[in-house]
Amino acid sequence: MNATRFTKIAMRVIAACALAHVAVAHADEAAGPSPEQIKKGAATYSQNCSPCHGPRMLDPQGAFDLRTFRKDEKNRFLTSVSKGKNQMPPWGGLLSPEDIESLWAYVIAGEKTQ
Ligand code: HEC
Repeated sequence: MNATRFTKIAMRVIAACALAHVAVAHADEAAGPSPEQIKKGAATYSQNCSPCHGPRMLDPQGAFDLRTFRKDEKNRFLTSVSKGKNQMPPWGGLLSPEDIESLWAYVIAGEKTQ
C-alpha cells in the first residue's frame, strides 16, 4: 500500500467516526431527560419550590407559574434558580448544579408526568 492510499483510508475512518459521534450526540438530545432525572426533579421541587410555586406547579398564586416557563430558555431558568430573582431566594448554595438540572427536566416535562 502506498502512502497516498493509506492516507485516503485513514481520512475515511476519521470521517466515519466523526459522523457516528454526531449521530450519538443528537440521539442523546432527542431522548431528553431520563424518567429518573424527572422524578428526582419532582422530589426536589416538592421539597423546595412547592411552598411558593404550588404543589406540582399547579397553584403558583403570587409566584411565577412554572407551567408557562419557556422551554427554550434553559439558561434563564438555571440563572434565575441559582442566583434568585426579586422575591425568590437564590438556590445555588443549597442545591447542586445536578439538582437544578433535574428541576429543569421536571419543569419541561410538566407535572402530568408524575
Ligand atoms: C419563597 C418563595 C419561592 C420559592 C421557595 C421558590 N420560588 Fe421561584 N419564584 C418566586 C417568585 C416570587 C418569583 C417571581 C420573581 C419575579 O419575577 O419577580 C419566582 C420566579 C421563579 C422563576 C422565573 C424566573 C424568571 O427568570 O423569570 C423560576 C424559573 C423559579 N422561580 C423557579 C423556582 C424553583 C425551581 C424553585 C425551587 C428550587 C423555586 N423557584 C422556589 C418565589 C419562590
